[in-house]
Amino acid sequence: MPRGASERGISVGIHDLEVATSHFVVSLSELAEHNGTDPAKYLIGLGQREMSFPAPDEDAVTIGAEAAAELLARTGVEGITTLLFATESGIDQSKAAGLWVHRLLGLPASMRVAEVKQACYGGTAALQAAAGMVARAPQERVLVIASDVARYALDSPGEPTQGAGAVAMLVSAAPALVELDPVSGRFTAEVDDFWRPNGMLEALVDGELSVAAYLDGVESSWLDLAARGGPSVERLAAILFHQPFGKMAQKGLRRLSSVVGRDLDGAGNTAGEAINSRMGNSYAASVYAALAGLLEYGLGEEPLSTGDRIGWFSYGSGSVSEFLTGTVGPAATTRSGSGGIAAKLDARAALGVPEYRALHTARGETPEVTDRLLPRTTRGRFRLAEVRGGARRYEGV
Ligand code: HMG
Repeated sequence: MPRGASERGISVGIHDLEVATSHFVVSLSELAEHNGTDPAKYLIGLGQREMSFPAPDEDAVTIGAEAAAELLARTGVEGITTLLFATESGIDQSKAAGLWVHRLLGLPASMRVAEVKQACYGGTAALQAAAGMVARAPQERVLVIASDVARYALDSPGEPTQGAGAVAMLVSAAPALVELDPVSGRFTAEVDDFWRPNGMLEALVDGELSVAAYLDGVESSWLDLAARGGPSVERLAAILFHQPFGKMAQKGLRRLSSVVGRDLDGAGNTAGEAINSRMGNSYAASVYAALAGLLEYGLGEEPLSTGDRIGWFSYGSGSVSEFLTGTVGPAATTRSGSGGIAAKLDARAALGVPEYRALHTARGETPEVTDRLLPRTTRGRFRLAEVRGGARRYEGV
């Protein structure tokens, strides 16, 4: 029997994962004060305290490369045949963002690299594609990077739900962190809840519709999972949600509670919400950042145990939803209590609201193809150094 195989078939899932975020952070209390908004609206109404904000020489490539570099320092690159880069903050209509990461990390030439897009669902689409590749060739490993910069217009309702973050995941047979269950629940419905037409840097959004579409996705993907014989909620030690803002995860849990006819309050991932409330929306990475938080901080006071089954809801506007479940592996306990994600969030440089607004405006006014040299701002190890003839040159330290 090949490595990782069992009577249930090949065991495939997330062997290891790592989170990264941007150089800057903006306080939402300060943003509220500037906007003349009651800070409680952001802190309690949305469940958000801070938002990560990229330096001018950062983007989804540099943040994604950071997460992957840290991950690969632990796992090595042996057996990695594919890099799937999931993002909706694409910086090129043609060339995959993962190609720059491939160069920055000195990855082997004998790999395939591609970009995956479906709004915030892209990370899950890449994870599922990776799982399929590994199931076909269990000796191979796939690097999935979900990385995004969530950007809305200044003074728009979406502004306090901006953020930036990446999660890199190594997908393999016999995974040490989370083994994916073979069955998942899916739901797709074309809807104009959130979109970013070509040439636009900022997403357009119908906020109310987006919340309703997300909750429809929770209900319909759960019912699909149940119809396919997925586990009952009683068997899930924790349930995670895509988190455009913390309160949305709570709304998702409430909708699921009403669908299954049971109060699920204790199953919510408060650790994931605490991380998200500081990082903001990281789109494709968001639900996997919640997973990283769950693995690091456990559920409430309790760390996760090997064999615990967890569920997670992935949503991408437009819209595609998927409810996945999986079993926690032995490496989960070694991550518990490390405080690694909080340390990264603490390390960000505070950006005052006037400076944040100036950077936001300057980014919006600079066409992507404008020739420019970017002075070093980020303390991160990877940065965008130059744009020349529309081509981007990144550098690492
Ligand atoms: P809004 O109109 O500014 O806010 O937009 P609101 O008036 O609806 O208030 C929000 C909450 O704050 C409400 O609570 C208020 O009651 C409360 P709720 O009724 O929802 O429980 N509130 C207060 N609470 C305490 N003290 C106060 C106070 N005032 C009000 N003083 C909206 C909110 C989410 C629509 C906006 O931020 C937005 O457009 N965000 C972007 C879109 C979004 O995140 N949608 C979520 C679902 S879609 C999704 O997740 C996909 C996405 O990630 C993209 C992708 O897939 O790529 C976005």
